[in-house]
Amino acid sequence: MGGDKLAIQRTDIEAEARLERGLADVVAAMTRLSHVDGVEGKLSYCGYDVIDLARYATYEETVYLLLYGDLPGSAQLSALRSELARYRRVNPALLQMLRALPGAPTSMEVLRTLVSAMSALDPSPLDKSQDANLRRAKRLISQLPTLLTAHLRLRQGEEPIQPSEDLGHAANLYYMLHGAAPDALETRILDMAFILMAEHELNASTFAVRVVASTLSDLFAAFTAGMGALNGPLHGAANTESMKMLLEIGSEANVETYVQGALAAKRKIMGFGHRVYKTWDPRAVILREMLSKLNDDLPAVHWCKLADRVQDTVFKTKALYPNVDFYAGPALYGLGFPMEAFPAIFACARSVGWAAHALEQYADNHLIRPTTQYVGPEDRVYRPVQER
Ligand code: SDX
Repeated sequence: MGGDKLAIQRTDIEAEARLERGLADVVAAMTRLSHVDGVEGKLSYCGYDVIDLARYATYEETVYLLLYGDLPGSAQLSALRSELARYRRVNPALLQMLRALPGAPTSMEVLRTLVSAMSALDPSPLDKSQDANLRRAKRLISQLPTLLTAHLRLRQGEEPIQPSEDLGHAANLYYMLHGAAPDALETRILDMAFILMAEHELNASTFAVRVVASTLSDLFAAFTAGMGALNGPLHGAANTESMKMLLEIGSEANVETYVQGALAAKRKIMGFGHRVYKTWDPRAVILREMLSKLNDDLPAVHWCKLADRVQDTVFKTKALYPNVDFYAGPALYGLGFPMEAFPAIFACARSVGWAAHALEQYADNHLIRPTTQYVGPEDRVYRPVQER
């Protein structure tokens, strides 16, 4: 069938139709969870500036805020910490699955598979109440790091490490991978990164979660869809790609040639640009600020300085600003996490945002079903195959 006969001038169609490519600037939901001001470069969770939360709060406080709408008091925070700690150990059947799974190109594919399998282990699958979904959400939030680190250790031929009762959520990710507790600075960096990656209104993966939740499908299915979307290089896998780019550039002497070459070849510079931010992503600002204060002997500082040179050159050439992924890469790399696992770590942090949006969708649901502008041929007559 001649494809050229069907070629339609997209611009002609877009001019007539209400088509917003990529749903840019289309309001598809009302939310109380976060607000992104792309012009001013501001982000807030339930009214709290993310810069304040990153500087002064813990990830557990942020989880409580996004699930309940307010920052917790000390008793509420302690209860949430105990609940997450209680859920953090995973069902042994999931570890057996991990051992049986062949390797996959990325950890996110393995994690996505196990999240889908968690629905088969749900103790009350027919209970669709908000309370039951809140319990499922906390189980997912607390267990993703346990599953990710078990996978990373098993593929290195090492046994998984059970979570520590003495460590917080983000610190346990480090402990369950490395077998040693992070120091106070490493804990702060990881907690801050988790807070900054926790929620970001209707990004592609959260939109995927809301679409699945809007059909009243289960939370595990919604998470599986979100993880699929987050693993794309235009979205949550940009942190891996931008860190690979920094490693490829290697030193400041190579920055100009690399950046000019990439832009001249029309290649995307990963970690730059954003659908909403028209200035610095505030998460990149605070991550960069934190990394630049580290002692010079820490590896993250070298990569942060190189990132600064790349940022300066990209901005001078194409006036593009860095997004969260660009400085999240050096932060995670400096903590010894494998680059290919960065999107899966992003999923661990974003789990609370996905859960909160799914709960919001369930609470006031309307099936999400946009429409299309038909641009194909019409009124065609069927002819038997022997005549074609
Ligand atoms: C995340 O949405 C969210 O909130 C996501 C996120 C979250 O917390 O959930 O913030 C996390 O995903 C951050 C984004 C990570 N992705 C990357 O860093 C990948 C590289 N960035 C680009 O692919 C791009 O900037 C997007 C996809 C992020 C946004 O793209 P848009 O809004 O669709 O804009 P576009 O691709 O149409 O670009 C507009 C112009 C184009 O130039 P022209 O063709 O008009 O000349 O800007 C250029 C693009 O070529 N451009 C880039 C670029 N980003 C945009 N050129 C080179 N390198 C880039 N990174």
